Amino acid sequence: MNRSPVLELRQVHKLYQGRTPLHVLRGVDLALFPGELVGIIGVSGSGKSTLLNIMGLLDPPTQGRLYIQGRDVTGLAGADAAAVRRDLFGFVFQNSCLLAEFTLGENLIIPIHLAGRRPTSDELARARRLLGDLGLGELANRRPGEVSAGERQRAALARALVGRPKALLADEPTGSLDEGNSHQLFSLLRGWVEEESIAAAVVTHDVELARHYCHRLLSLSGGKLASG
Ligand SMILES: Nc1ncnc2c1ncn2[C@@H]1O[C@H](COP(=O)(O)OP(=O)(O)O)[C@@H](O)[C@H]1O
Ligand SMILES: [Mg+2]
Repeated sequence: MNRSPVLELRQVHKLYQGRTPLHVLRGVDLALFPGELVGIIGVSGSGKSTLLNIMGLLDPPTQGRLYIQGRDVTGLAGADAAAVRRDLFGFVFQNSCLLAEFTLGENLIIPIHLAGRRPTSDELARARRLLGDLGLGELANRRPGEVSAGERQRAALARALVGRPKALLADEPTGSLDEGNSHQLFSLLRGWVEEESIAAAVVTHDVELARHYCHRLLSLSGGKLASG
């Protein structure tokens, strides 16, 4: 098995400047390996989203380094950062972020269109299969407003996976789901992470769920990550 990390943070700090500067991350080390689902827990305001945004090249660290597939990408911004995100990452956000005007099926291939391409037949087949596996096969032609919150979250997970990401970053993907739907989403997520050797970090406030489904659990507190 390939044990080099897909994504690695070394001594990452984040300081939000403001009237009262806020030192949210204080030396975070983290390595994400292929096929591993890592859960990140922590109280509200502890910096979980900040950490995920830094990992996903959405926000730069104040100090420290970020490596992706061994390459130092610290400080990468603009189009260069967007290219790394497009080629290597899948994102799932708390509120699913599906586009209301498009069907679930269309939403899945929007990232491909945004990359300036037309989806290949392989990508279209994969999108259909992901929707089917997630129990959304019959709903591909519905818009987000015409399905439940749980179905939207599952569609958001499918969308994150269509591009065969090397790393998956999910910020409270079960935030708006009931217990049954939360279990189902985590179970599917774990299956894909293992089958497709994805390096995944999932932020959640649900400790029990994370403990049950994640290979490794980390807790963010006082700006530091520790085994949870
Ligand atoms: N862009 C920002 N500017 C200033 N402070 C921020 C910004 N984003 C988040 N914060 C603050 O940083 C702390 C951590 O936020 P966040 O990473 O969203 O925590 P969590 O996701 O764990 O709830 C919070 O106190 C929040 O108010
Ligand atoms: Mg958050």
